[in-house]
Amino acid sequence: MMTPAQQKAFDIGQKIMALQRRFVTHARYRELEAKFDALLYHRRAGIELGQHHEAHGIAVIGRSGSGKSTAIRRLFSRHSDLQLLADGVVRADVVSLTVPSPATLKHVGHSCLQALGYPIRRDRTSGIIWELVQNHLRQRQTMFLHLDEAQDFYSSRFRSEMQDVVNTLKSIMQNRIWPVGIILSGMPGLMDLFDLDTQLARRIEPIHFAPVSYTSDGKSIRSVVEQYAHAGCLGVEAIILQAETVRRLIHAASDEFGLVIEIIIGAIEEALVAERKTLGLRDFASAFRRRTGCIDGLNPFLSEDFLAINAGKLLSSLEREDRNWRRKREEPA
Ligand SMILES: Nc1ncnc2c1ncn2[C@@H]1O[C@H](COP(=O)(O)OP(=O)(O)OP(=O)(O)O)[C@@H](O)[C@H]1O
Ligand SMILES: [Mg+2]
Repeated sequence: MMTPAQQKAFDIGQKIMALQRRFVTHARYRELEAKFDALLYHRRAGIELGQHHEAHGIAVIGRSGSGKSTAIRRLFSRHSDLQLLADGVVRADVVSLTVPSPATLKHVGHSCLQALGYPIRRDRTSGIIWELVQNHLRQRQTMFLHLDEAQDFYSSRFRSEMQDVVNTLKSIMQNRIWPVGIILSGMPGLMDLFDLDTQLARRIEPIHFAPVSYTSDGKSIRSVVEQYAHAGCLGVEAIILQAETVRRLIHAASDEFGLVIEIIIGAIEEALVAERKTLGLRDFASAFRRRTGCIDGLNPFLSEDFLAINAGKLLSSLEREDRNWRRKREEPA
């Protein structure tokens, strides 16, 4: 038997988890979906005709918290026409992994093999590892290989290794027998990769998960607040829907869409814990305080001059921890 306090925490936990599972379809996501479908059906047509032209790819680029990993996970998991990696099924239309660090040729190849379900001993040469990767991609009939955190390729310490990895990715796309499209996602540093390698740039189309702004996204963010509050069984106080509050929210999230959502969910949790019926400004302020540990003078929901606050900096001290946590959550069990 749970005590009433335990029961309350359990109920709130369930509500919050349901909110975290929600996905808001945004314009960038639609762009991603359209581009992915174009590549997918082009490739399918080629396979049907037995013509294996070189494959192309997509790069999703945005700052931390913009929602790249979430969007790609959603894209793959909700596609009605994709066979994902599953127990007992050989075919895997897409295979997804996080770039390991350091992103050396051998290390990345090893992670690919692991993602393909063929973990091997570490003492193989990278030549053998990548040959195995290509073989398994063909056996599994994989059409797309997704590499998250791809900005890690661009680390000056491993510049020559990075070029090796890029060359290997290109050769995977150009494989005459079974070409595989590469989907990259990562932070803006990923763009440097394209400057460095024009051949790669020509084959991979970028989609920018750009920062949000009040002018272009204020209306939709306001409706997201309403939808989420409603889903959390809360009403919203009038002040929450005012332009200034929405501006504060966007600023507190340092203009990143995913962080906007995280703060909204955090505020809902505060309201539920305080057993309120409506979502108010103080819940947003508490959520930001809890997340950053900052004083009220630096809280974008409380400060008069909120635009002067560097929310990105307040968030970033926690960011690394957060990213690691997210990475763990994203790894398939
Ligand atoms: N479209 C969306 N709908 C609902 N929640 C979202 C959406 N996009 C992102 N989120 C939420 O925003 C947070 C950040 O998203 P995500 O981890 O995908 O960002 P990212 O761009 O991959 O960041 P990083 O570079 O740090 O890995 C997550 O908690 C995620 O659940
Ligand atoms: Mg991510």
